[in-house]
Amino acid sequence: MDIRPTRTIAVANEKGGVGKTALVINLGAALALKEKSVLIIDMDPQFNATRGLGIDIGEGALTVYDIIMDEKTHIVDDAILKTAWKGLHLIPSHVDLVGADVELVGVEGRENRLKEALERVTIRYDFILIDTPPSLSLLTVNVLACAEEILIPCQTHPYSFDALDELFDTIEGIKAEINPGLSITGIVPTFFDKRTKVSHQVMEKLRKNDRYQNLLLDTTIRINTTIAESTAAGKPVIYYRSACHGSSDFVELAEEMINPG
Ligand SMILES: Nc1ncnc2c1ncn2[C@@H]1O[C@H](COP(=O)(O)OP(=O)(O)OP(=O)(O)O)[C@@H](O)[C@H]1O
Ligand SMILES: [Mg+2]
Repeated sequence: MDIRPTRTIAVANEKGGVGKTALVINLGAALALKEKSVLIIDMDPQFNATRGLGIDIGEGALTVYDIIMDEKTHIVDDAILKTAWKGLHLIPSHVDLVGADVELVGVEGRENRLKEALERVTIRYDFILIDTPPSLSLLTVNVLACAEEILIPCQTHPYSFDALDELFDTIEGIKAEINPGLSITGIVPTFFDKRTKVSHQVMEKLRKNDRYQNLLLDTTIRINTTIAESTAAGKPVIYYRSACHGSSDFVELAEEMINPG
């Protein structure tokens, strides 16, 4: 029997547009290429991860909304879709998910709905990667309540750096109140542009900061328009154009995730 534990990783940052979804899609694909079994869960009502994996859910398809709202009727395995790429599966999102926040108000145990749903998945995965919306909504709280690890993409821009402090405080709060086992696996600098001074300045600040320096991963995701093109085309970048910075950066990140340090 295979007893390797599943690593459940939230990709979170309350700041918008810092590369969360690109990280989930492309790290997931790079891990799957290295023969890891990967489940991506799209917990963002914008459903960018779903679209970025080329999935257009049909009428009546189950989504993450169904499994967190109506946990008794649905078999979670039935919401898992195969993507076009071996080893890479997805629980899709839908715009309906935007209502979950309000619909769950007053429901006891509302922050543990995703956790309970995932306990009923019978397929074993090496990695579960969960994409989150750019806000600390109940959806994000559900993700942080069930994850063991958090990966934080930080855009190499001063605003993104400044927002990290608040994010770390939020994580401390979640650890204290909901999920003591949660730990930050790493900060991944994104949109790094070696031609710009600000990119280098932010990297320097990350390296020197007491709170962040030990969490800074070796891999940096460089700015690369092929990443944006591939997402728009509904493919992970490694399957869109294998020879580009974006592809090599995510392969390197996958290696670092598998063999840390
Ligand atoms: N390293 C990169 N280089 C160039 N473009 C990128 C890079 N990473 C992501 N992008 C593009 O930038 C845009 C924003 O990235 P992404 O959607 O991953 O951010 P996000 O944090 O998920 O945003 P949101 O907070 O809205 O969910 C997308 O069009 C994406 O394809
Ligand atoms: Mg996103």
